[in-house]
Amino acid sequence: MDLPYLKFFGLKEEPFSTVPSPRYFFLTSVHSTALEKTAYVVGAKKGLSVVFGDTGTGKSSLARLLHQKFLDQGIVSVLLTNPSYPTPNSLLRTIAQEFGTTRTDKSFKGMLDIFKGFLIEQALQQGKTVVLIIDEAQTLRPPLLELLRQLINYETNDTKLLQLVLFAQDELRNTLARPRQDNFRSRVVMASTLEHLSLEELRAMIRFRWEVASGGRQHPFTDDAVAVIFEQSAGMPREANILADNSLLLAYYANSPKISGEYVNQAVSDRRANLSRKEAA
Ligand SMILES: Nc1ncnc2c1ncn2[C@@H]1O[C@H](COP(=O)(O)OP(=O)(O)OP(=O)(O)O)[C@@H](O)[C@H]1O
Ligand SMILES: [Mg+2]
Repeated sequence: MDLPYLKFFGLKEEPFSTVPSPRYFFLTSVHSTALEKTAYVVGAKKGLSVVFGDTGTGKSSLARLLHQKFLDQGIVSVLLTNPSYPTPNSLLRTIAQEFGTTRTDKSFKGMLDIFKGFLIEQALQQGKTVVLIIDEAQTLRPPLLELLRQLINYETNDTKLLQLVLFAQDELRNTLARPRQDNFRSRVVMASTLEHLSLEELRAMIRFRWEVASGGRQHPFTDDAVAVIFEQSAGMPREANILADNSLLLAYYANSPKISGEYVNQAVSDRRANLSRKEAA
């Protein structure tokens, strides 16, 4: 899509799109630590790792990045972005299908055997690492968690046959804290939490995104503008991107090549006014 401000600011693409694109993902220290921890658990075939984070902190982006990284390394990886299936049977069938198993069976037990056979064949005959990445894992109800627990139980003498990486909002932390979930919780080898960005990290993210979108140019945000974006977004990446994008549009309408804190403040009040109007309706 050709946006009006692209030419004005010398951009090739939209710099602050909220699509979780790996190309626009800036590896902050928090994100790279989470990436390293999960890659370690998978590489060492230790089983289960979980990445927690509030809404808009970069979970889906990181999940895609990790999936791509695994594929590039020749790891057999599947990314499920919407796991809220009605039954364990339907989740299992989807998982098996996504991994490309050709055989099916009418019974749940039969499907479990087929999937286990697939894992054994991949691991023992082909020497492959198999990983399942699940985004939005806070939507997994207890019967689905129980299925996943069963799947990560398949093992050889010293390694797990299936590596599982969950990306989830805090609700999953609460679910796992219940006594009934002791079994699942105790299998988590590494857990990470995506914290909000610091001012420095946010500044670096804006610089990075602008460089990608413009082919290396400097961004037009003043220090003051970056500080207001930080304050108003509380360092939450999605909110920060939305504010940066809205400020960009306001500066364009005002024919201003620099983006000062005033434009950000205006974007904040516009957004507040319109969102609360919607809520009131
Ligand atoms: N480290 C980062 N660098 C660049 N952009 C980021 C970063 N982290 C998050 N974003 C951006 O913030 C927005 C939200 O990220 P994402 O969709 O990954 O969040 P999420 O944690 O999955 O949110 P939700 O819980 O609502 O699904 C996206 O535009 C994404 O590109
Ligand atoms: Mg997400």
